[in-house]
Amino acid sequence: MNILLTSAEVFPFAKVGGLGDVCGALPKDWEKLGHNVIIVMPKYANIDVHKWNLQRTDIIVPVPMDWWTEYARLWKATLPGTNNVQVYFLENADYYDRWGVYGNPDGFGDNDRRFIFLSRAVFETAKTLGFRPDIIFANDYHTAFTMPMLKIHYRMTEFFGRTAGVYAIHNMVFQGQFDPRRAMPFAGFGMNEFYQGSWFESHGVVNSMQIGLWFADKITTVSPRYASEVRYTKEGYGLQSIINARGGDFLGILNGVDYSVWNPEVDDKIYANYSVNDLHGKLTNKYNFLKDWGVHENDMKQDMPIIGMVSRLTDQKGIPLIENALERILQQYPVRFALVGSGADQYEDYFRYIRQKFGDRALVYIGYNDNLSHRVEAASDIYLMPSLFEPCGLNQMYSLKYGTVPVVRNVGGLADTVHEYDYSSREGNGFVFDDYNAGEMGYALHRAIEAYFNKDHWMSVIRNGMMANHSSLLSAQRYIDVFYWALEKIPY
Ligand code: ADP
Ligand code: GLC
Repeated sequence: MNILLTSAEVFPFAKVGGLGDVCGALPKDWEKLGHNVIIVMPKYANIDVHKWNLQRTDIIVPVPMDWWTEYARLWKATLPGTNNVQVYFLENADYYDRWGVYGNPDGFGDNDRRFIFLSRAVFETAKTLGFRPDIIFANDYHTAFTMPMLKIHYRMTEFFGRTAGVYAIHNMVFQGQFDPRRAMPFAGFGMNEFYQGSWFESHGVVNSMQIGLWFADKITTVSPRYASEVRYTKEGYGLQSIINARGGDFLGILNGVDYSVWNPEVDDKIYANYSVNDLHGKLTNKYNFLKDWGVHENDMKQDMPIIGMVSRLTDQKGIPLIENALERILQQYPVRFALVGSGADQYEDYFRYIRQKFGDRALVYIGYNDNLSHRVEAASDIYLMPSLFEPCGLNQMYSLKYGTVPVVRNVGGLADTVHEYDYSSREGNGFVFDDYNAGEMGYALHRAIEAYFNKDHWMSVIRNGMMANHSSLLSAQRYIDVFYWALEKIPY
């Protein structure tokens, strides 16, 4: 089938978090499964045109906005790791020729317009290219407007008459709430469609995610556990009733891992490759990582597990728990801590303080660094992910593959992928805690550290994790099933 994926982030071109990873991985698998895929995304100023070999085309796409027309020039590249997945980048100086995907910390003031433009350009790009999609696959609030645009502006046209819309939610927290006086006309909808209780209205504003939920043919989210959390608990952030109204059209598909990128057997960003059958390389990674951080050989003699983290530094990721517990853990146990992260100033400052206080036992890198994120996965023994909520989470799955034992909170996709190790059955691949408090997290870490020093059992935990298959190919196949169900919803 013909699949058009659109997203604000697609790895390796532009990535802020897991959204980029997932949108970079699925198209590869869909191609392997025999489908034709194109991607439409913005050409942000920070995309490395030379590294990814972006080609400027002569194609100019006219994009209707309100009562006027705007334009985007198409740039083009092949998605690395594919034969022929074409990625089309929209060049538009007003919207995308600036640094950053969303704008930190509060988002660019014109994100409504930037992403409505992207959504509308999806259709016009497909038309201009003559690519007739069976499926438009949109992700998160940024491209949610494609769903009503399909139903209201395009479904009655011959070109999109057999196109279905599938909308994937990666995080309920960011819903894209916009001023209706801007968003409605930009998207080509009359203000008379905006009234209390209409599809578009939510507490007096336009809510992009709500619109995606109402208008999509099928809706997915990124793990089965999160699907039930957002349906039945406050994790739905106010949209529970709409999710319930969509009934069986809403389901969870567990994200998968792109094992051509995140796999210690082939990863070229780490110091040495290794596999479940030969873990020597893991030690080499640990040794070189510590050496690069300036840890002296003499200080490496004591066997200390490294507790690693690669994370956006936000409340979602459970940083407040770490603030409460980390100093005590570093004082109480013979462990090191390694972090690559960036985010809220207060958390960045906290980790700088930890680095200063604990020296070579707290290896803290503040910033975004892709190479280092792979090295932390490979060098660490334990991976800490105490999230407040977690739609899926990818780093715990990367950790499993890298033989780095996850310590996670029992929530969202973490609950679907990490299971407490059991000493008698030798089953389980990590350590899990329920309540969101520092004491419980500390105790889960205690169990992990204790297991680390019991080498026989530690090998079992590691092996259980490394043997699991979380390939994105599995989730890609599930999406294809959902795409066929979505197509069945198109009325004849
Ligand atoms: P989320 O999307 O909520 O941030 P995920 O676990 O799904 O969480 O994905 C996070 C992705 O972003 C992973 O690929 C992780 O390695 C990456 N990442 C997060 N912070 C950084 C950072 N500071 N530097 C490099 N990569 C990062
Ligand atoms: C979001 C979620 C994360 C998920 C990722 C990819 O950023 O926070 O849990 O893994 O999207 O779906």
